[in-house]
Amino acid sequence: MQKFYITTPIFYINDTPHIGHAYTMFLADTAANYYRLRDYDVYFLTGTDENSQKTLERAKKDNITPYDFSEKMASNWFETWKKMNIKFNRFIRTSEKQHSIIVQNIFKKIYDNGDIYKNIYKGLYCTGCEEFKTQKDLIDEKICPLHKKECKEICEENYFFKLSKYKKKILNHIKNNPEFIIPEEKKNEILSMLESESLQDISISRQNNNWGIPVPFDDSQTIYVWFDALINYLSGIDYPNEKYKIFWPETRHLIGKDISKFHCIMWPSILIAAGIKLPKSIFIHGFFTIEGEKMSKSLNNAINPLKITDKYGANSLRYYLLSDISFGNDGNFSIKRFFERINNDLSDNFGNALRRVCVLAKKNNIEINLVQKKFNEILKNHPEYQNLMDCFNFCGAISYIRENGTSINQLISIEKPWELKNKKEIENILIDKAAKLYELSFLLEPFFPEESKKAQNILTGNLDLEDSILFPKIEMSAT
Ligand code: MSP
Repeated sequence: MQKFYITTPIFYINDTPHIGHAYTMFLADTAANYYRLRDYDVYFLTGTDENSQKTLERAKKDNITPYDFSEKMASNWFETWKKMNIKFNRFIRTSEKQHSIIVQNIFKKIYDNGDIYKNIYKGLYCTGCEEFKTQKDLIDEKICPLHKKECKEICEENYFFKLSKYKKKILNHIKNNPEFIIPEEKKNEILSMLESESLQDISISRQNNNWGIPVPFDDSQTIYVWFDALINYLSGIDYPNEKYKIFWPETRHLIGKDISKFHCIMWPSILIAAGIKLPKSIFIHGFFTIEGEKMSKSLNNAINPLKITDKYGANSLRYYLLSDISFGNDGNFSIKRFFERINNDLSDNFGNALRRVCVLAKKNNIEINLVQKKFNEILKNHPEYQNLMDCFNFCGAISYIRENGTSINQLISIEKPWELKNKKEIENILIDKAAKLYELSFLLEPFFPEESKKAQNILTGNLDLEDSILFPKIEMSAT
């Protein structure tokens, strides 16, 4: 059985989930659904990134211990994804003991191999990004352009990782493995960054920081949160044990463009230094903005996904987010577009064709009773859809479904079965359209698992359309 291991970034817990985070989750969940339908052995990992300075600062502000704060927030993230019916296999928390043991083991292994050394770090640190900065990255040489906050000046003794040593290896790997970074434009950005800039060794520990995972042989230092967080992709499959042996390196990391340097440069370097194979692909997606601004608590423009999914269902939000921006590009979230997408694409398109066929069949006493098929059988007839799905171009796959739905409706309008008298002729038309809709219902299944199953049951004569209204129109006034 072929393997498909998909990961999302683990989320910082100083914030609650917003629709940008939901976008990442829906992408991963849809890919997992698709590969499950294709009979792959799928493992889907997500979780929370808890050992950061942000956690400490937020807990202080709320006047609770970082431990209690983490418990509360991790359960908020977990419950949100559960309510949105995201079918992950494991939810990892970086505060888990098992994770910290694995992080310490890998740190020690790289130290023993000679790629970690002690030195003085003097420079700037942005807690928002959890990243060491150079003056040229900053506004007025001190303000983070993303978080609009002044960076902290740090001067302390740290452990450093010999990142500079890996530049050539990473460059070669990216060039020799066209599937390593997807899409192409993002790959080119990383390549030109690597080709034009020198790679500096990086600090991978912090001094006297009593939150986080201690350096295994030096209690006065904790491991840098990105070094710790990236390793969740291994600890989440119990490295180096059975699950790791099954799923690594059949790994696809799905990430937002904001964290591509960490995943495309730092992470592969850590893996090579630890003697571990590199993941198969890193899929980098774009960002949803609200009125052109990054979504964040500090800008007070974040939209809670549950507000939408409680009213209209999680799959509707998934469909809208995935259909509105093509993979890798940025897009603007608009509630008006959400209604348009659901009503035009689903209710007036696939839903309408299904209703027309079923109503006409009932009226003429015709039984729609198609032979059941499997996803892989259907997929063979739609190579274009398969190519789009394979590179996470869900927006393209949705357009393909929409165009097919439109042409079924057009055919019904041209053939006008309601004007015919001969039952056999009517039957031929309806069965032909039902068969086309049946195929489409499979193509919709990674996006709308429950609704698609219902459509399949209706078309194979196992469910009455009236018992299950599919894709009703949604009302804008209800928000
Ligand atoms: N904790 C780190 C990741 C460590 S992974 C080893 C982190 N967390 S985060 O919570 O700030 O963001 C995680 C991810 O959320 C981003 O990479 C991106 O996938 C997603 N998004 C956050 N805001 C988003 C949008 N506005 N739009 C789309 N995705 C967004 O970075």
